[in-house]
Amino acid sequence: MKKLKDKVVVVTGASSGIGNALVVELAKAGAQVAFCDIKTLDKTINDIASCKVKSYHEIFDIANASDLKQFAENVIAHFGHVDVLINNAGIALGDITFEKVTEQDFEKITDINYYGVVKATQYFYHTLLSRPEAALVNISSTQGILALPYLVPYCTTKFAVRGFTDALRIEHKIRKIKHFTIHTVHPGAVATEISVNADYQGPRSKPFNEELQKGASPTHAAKKILNGIINNTPRIFISDGVFQDTLARLMPTSYHHVVSLIMKLKKVET
Ligand SMILES: NC(=O)c1ccc[n+]([C@@H]2O[C@H](COP(=O)([O-])OP(=O)(O)OC[C@H]3O[C@@H](n4cnc5c(N)ncnc54)[C@H](O)[C@@H]3O)[C@@H](O)[C@H]2O)c1
Repeated sequence: MKKLKDKVVVVTGASSGIGNALVVELAKAGAQVAFCDIKTLDKTINDIASCKVKSYHEIFDIANASDLKQFAENVIAHFGHVDVLINNAGIALGDITFEKVTEQDFEKITDINYYGVVKATQYFYHTLLSRPEAALVNISSTQGILALPYLVPYCTTKFAVRGFTDALRIEHKIRKIKHFTIHTVHPGAVATEISVNADYQGPRSKPFNEELQKGASPTHAAKKILNGIINNTPRIFISDGVFQDTLARLMPTSYHHVVSLIMKLKKVET
């Protein structure tokens, strides 16, 4: 995609963190933005007010498929089409050993982090396919490449987002759908409240959040994602993402030794 100016871009999970920064950077670039969240969007609306771009927003739970489908229909009716979809909404369950994870916990995180991405892609796919230039951007994580302990449900959903997105990219390559690019984003640490807002807080929550706060700013993450769309980068890495990807490739069955060592050095309970 050559430029974002005047494109219609949808961002999910836009109330805070990376999603808020994406909407702000898109508005600054002159894109028309449609965004949603389960929480208030007042800050995001206020942040883009001076940009004077066309915008549309709704508040609903992305795990509710009929509300998500209605949002897609409303956005397409409002703007006439969509050029870019950025599936960003996501949660972390928090610090929890697997035996304590309930069925409901696993369903909740899967419905938001995985089915939220798949269903939004399905509901916007035809309008994207019909455009002269289009992009789909799905936010996975480095925990969609390198698994970490006490985060089994989160890692599961982020590996699933990576699998879904990579498979769709390969299908587009084989079918020579060149005008519609598919991007997987693998952020390492980004300084947001995702860990603080997680349902479960345990002994590793505080050190984990401290690591996140040392990471990239949401604005830096948003700029990297938007540059990735412009430069047609299939896999977009943020902060220590490249390191974790390399580690998982070099030591696919033994990287836990490195993870354990890092946790011990940082005095995090294993
Ligand atoms: N912060 C990091 O270090 C990091 C690292 C890797 C991946 N990510 C991913 O980046 C994305 C953005 O996270 P963030 O770090 O900006 O955190 P964040 O908590 O600031 O943003 C997530 C947004 O999603 C929204 N959301 C949550 N559940 C929702 C639901 N059911 N329906 C609609 N909206 C919902 C939240 O309200 C919030 O505004 C997530 O997918 C996350 O997994 C973040």
